[in-house]
Amino acid sequence: MEEKNLNQIGVSFKGSGSYVPDQILTNQKISQKVDTSDEWIKSRTGISERRISSLGDNVTDMGYKAALNAIDNANWDVKTIDLIVLATSTPHDLFGSAPSIQAKLGASNAVAFDLTAACSGFLFALITASQFLKGGNFKRAVVIGADQLSSFVDWKDRRSCILFGDGAGALAIEATNEFDNFIGFDMRTDGKRGSFLNLPSKNKKDSIIDNIDFLSGSFSPIQMNGQEVYKFAVKEVPIILDKLFREKNYTSDQVDWLVLHQANQRILDSVGERLKIPREKILSNLEKYGNTSAATIPLMMDEAIRNQNIKQNDIIATSGFGAGLSWGAALIKWG
Ligand code: ACO
Repeated sequence: MEEKNLNQIGVSFKGSGSYVPDQILTNQKISQKVDTSDEWIKSRTGISERRISSLGDNVTDMGYKAALNAIDNANWDVKTIDLIVLATSTPHDLFGSAPSIQAKLGASNAVAFDLTAACSGFLFALITASQFLKGGNFKRAVVIGADQLSSFVDWKDRRSCILFGDGAGALAIEATNEFDNFIGFDMRTDGKRGSFLNLPSKNKKDSIIDNIDFLSGSFSPIQMNGQEVYKFAVKEVPIILDKLFREKNYTSDQVDWLVLHQANQRILDSVGERLKIPREKILSNLEKYGNTSAATIPLMMDEAIRNQNIKQNDIIATSGFGAGLSWGAALIKWG
């Protein structure tokens, strides 16, 4: 690590990238597996199809491709990257997948680690990385959100299997001593409501040797109380965003884009309505990808940056929310 640069006061956003697997699972195909229909899924969620990982598309592979894309977009030499944070709940290696991504990238001067906060993961990782940059410890960071929830979905549970897909997105961010485009953030958790959404470990008692037991480890599929998660999201997301706007002396009409975690179109619409942000400013691509957990926000941002919806100096309000329960918000200026 280089010496601390205490002149680093801010963060600027330099590039974006994303990756989704090729396999497409449509609503029609899901309805051949469980008792549901394209009409039900579309009207209740806005989702038409999602991508599903196959061999060669685990979280390390997807995260690497998204990160490489963001680094190319930022026009960086990989050797100049100091920090890689991977937000994921589905690492390829429970000990951490970020170092494997670092190795694949050849980013030998970076330190890399995983961070888990379910669907709030990317936002929490972006905030974490920005604090390292503003603290003067690091200059360049790549923040990745990647998840492969298809491996943990109960494909017989129609209440949850319709929602999720796989993918990855990444942003390249840099410390600067001239301005700060990371305007503000807030983050919350409430473990008391954690049982609404879990991907719990499944321990089975076994014996190592006489009188010494151990718990063999694996995971149960995702368990979700959809209605409670829905109520939580439509209540807490507008509150945290509104509080952030007030703290930073912004009004919702100054926001160019609302980039929410892509869970359900009805949640996006409801949050937009409560904040009085018109529909044309609410970015959405969940129709194509479903809920890709930690990947949704950078996947959405990358698409909007590449199709030139998000432009230099646009104000973006973003919020992630999900299991934990956890939620957070950030106000940023692109560029
Ligand atoms: N197809 C057809 N019918 C269905 C399906 C389906 N896929 N799923 C549920 N139903 C039925 C139910 O059985 C119920 O029938 P009943 O009235 O006869 O009992 C009826 O449809 C209504 O069910 P609800 O659960 O009330 O449906 P709701 O309108 O709440 O929509 C949904 C369900 C889409 C899951 C919604 O609650 C939601 O989006 N919640 C948020 C979930 C979420 O975003 N989770 C991820 C958070 S991010 C993270 O951290 C991973």
